[in-house]
Amino acid sequence: MTDRTATTPLSFTVHRHSQPVASAERAKLLADPGFGRVFTDHMAMIRYSEGKGWHSAEISARKPLLLDPASAVLHYAQEIFEGLKAYRLADGSLAMFRPDANAHRFQQSARRLAMPELPADLFVGAISELVNLDRDWFPSVEGGSLYIRPFMFANEVFLGVKPSAEYLFLVIVSPVGGYFKSGAPAVSIWVSQDYTRAAPGGTGAAKCGGNYASSLVAQAEASRHGCDQVVFLDAAEHRWVEELGGMNVFLVFEDGTLQTPPLSGTILPGITRDSLITLARSEGLTVREQPYAIDQWRADARSGHLTEAFACGTAAVVTPIGRVASPDGEFKIGAGGPGQLTSRLKQKLVDIQHGRAPDPHGWVHKIG
Ligand code: PLP
Ligand code: COI
Repeated sequence: MTDRTATTPLSFTVHRHSQPVASAERAKLLADPGFGRVFTDHMAMIRYSEGKGWHSAEISARKPLLLDPASAVLHYAQEIFEGLKAYRLADGSLAMFRPDANAHRFQQSARRLAMPELPADLFVGAISELVNLDRDWFPSVEGGSLYIRPFMFANEVFLGVKPSAEYLFLVIVSPVGGYFKSGAPAVSIWVSQDYTRAAPGGTGAAKCGGNYASSLVAQAEASRHGCDQVVFLDAAEHRWVEELGGMNVFLVFEDGTLQTPPLSGTILPGITRDSLITLARSEGLTVREQPYAIDQWRADARSGHLTEAFACGTAAVVTPIGRVASPDGEFKIGAGGPGQLTSRLKQKLVDIQHGRAPDPHGWVHKIG
């Protein structure tokens, strides 16, 4: 399988859009982009063929893809993706947050899905070139950023069940505001008792589209119960808190300690999760990466031992959890709004992301 990971220095052929969106129309879109509905003018694409490796790197106008109806991804879901953001720094330049960590996770996801690993320099290079070209698409809305979506899928034309011999890697960019429509200070979450997201030995730690497809029915159940997000429990005992549909979860206790479920192979190793653990520990806080039972959560919230809870991820940043509901009833966390430690850690993270605070860990990657 060596040809699957071989690094060939590839340079991107750039074909500029012949009819980019007019600047007045772009300005209108950028004033209130929402999440994931507005896209920039261009996309990056690299092809992979067995025996040839990565080839044909290009940046071109964002356009629909032509796929054969027998393309493997349409049948067996061999697909992975990433999500990261570019922020505007005080000096007007753009910077990505920890793109090397996304490149690494993309390789881990590729391994789990029997796909070729894209060299990290190509992953980061494709994103940097694309964001630099579409830099005028930075949103004007307060708190806005460019949400970058790299993804790869199998496109061999073959109905046999096996790893594909052909793949497309693409990057698209979406100017975004906040992830949650409600804009509420804290979100409510629904405990899924009937559905699980991942089982030991499964694909829970990989960022593959299939994980999200299987979470949708649980997310729909959460919405029906008036909740913003679903929280999944472990597959074996339906007892241990794992993560939300698209975010990791943290608990904060009255003694100022934090806890988050461990990376046991069934949850996504979030880059925001990792960054917050590093930031909290560097201010001397205790962070336990240990399992936490849903019954304990209810008991701790009711006794006041648990004072805050929050969800975190690239799209959601740090979002306080105010209420947890399930068929067994519901409970409130603290006063139901953003807690002090949650707000402080969030501020610390976004200050580094926006270049307003020193970056001792080398997380900020300037573009251009
Ligand atoms: N868990 C899931 C299932 C996710 O989809 C995400 C979002 O990417 C996360 C956790 C948080 O990961 P990150 O902080 O790397 O965005
Ligand atoms: C992200 O935070 O990047 C995610 O992928 C979450 C969601 C939009 C799927």
